[in-house]
Amino acid sequence: MSERRDLGIGLVSVGWMGKVHSRAYSELNSTFPGLAVKPRLVIAADPEPSRQQFAVEALGYEQATADYLEVVSHPDVDVVSICAPNFLHKEIALAAIAHGKHFWLEKPAGRSAEETLEIAHAADAAGVVSSIGYNYRQAPAIEYAKKLIAEGGLGRITNVRGIFFADYSSEPNGALSWRFKKAWPGAEFSAT
Ligand SMILES: NC(=O)c1ccc[n+]([C@@H]2O[C@H](COP(=O)([O-])OP(=O)(O)OC[C@H]3O[C@@H](n4cnc5c(N)ncnc54)[C@H](O)[C@@H]3O)[C@@H](O)[C@H]2O)c1
Repeated sequence: MSERRDLGIGLVSVGWMGKVHSRAYSELNSTFPGLAVKPRLVIAADPEPSRQQFAVEALGYEQATADYLEVVSHPDVDVVSICAPNFLHKEIALAAIAHGKHFWLEKPAGRSAEETLEIAHAADAAGVVSSIGYNYRQAPAIEYAKKLIAEGGLGRITNVRGIFFADYSSEPNGALSWRFKKAWPGAEFSAT
């Protein structure tokens, strides 16, 4: 096998999804051995010092910072994983775009269609590659449903109703985090 090229990774926010993205990067080459790139965990940002420490000591980033601008402007970073709370998505995505960085932005992209369009147009105009964390998209059952619909097997779809059961918000003593105040996740989303 020819030698792999380093792919510099920058992470913004070391919360639940920041860990998930980091684990995925760490396992990339054992899952897909034929890849020509090898993720290099360059820098992670989170304002909470214990999370910066976790990023370096547990996840394996070379350095950590409180300021996401240091991530999106780092010369060794090729790709940025944006795993911040929803109300920060637009400003961080636009900052990554301004520095010409490709990015994976956690869902939902913006808190509204307008915010999302602004990010999409800016990414297109800058020619950066972007992706959104709708991770069920490639699940076999979802792909099959898409195929059935595209082939007309389900007729004309007039209504779709989906329910996602989760109990992670049911702890009465849990923290009142950004998820539970409508302006932060976005008024169009009642849960994230
Ligand atoms: N794709 C999925 O299945 C999935 C699942 C869960 C969450 N999400 C999305 O991932 C994103 C993050 O959710 P989470 O569950 O990881 O949240 P979380 O609350 O666990 O983590 C958020 C982190 O952001 C940090 N943060 C706050 N302000 C910051 C700033 N200015 N700069 C950098 N970091 C900052 C916090 O300190 C915290 O560590 C949300 O957009 C959410 O909708 C996606």
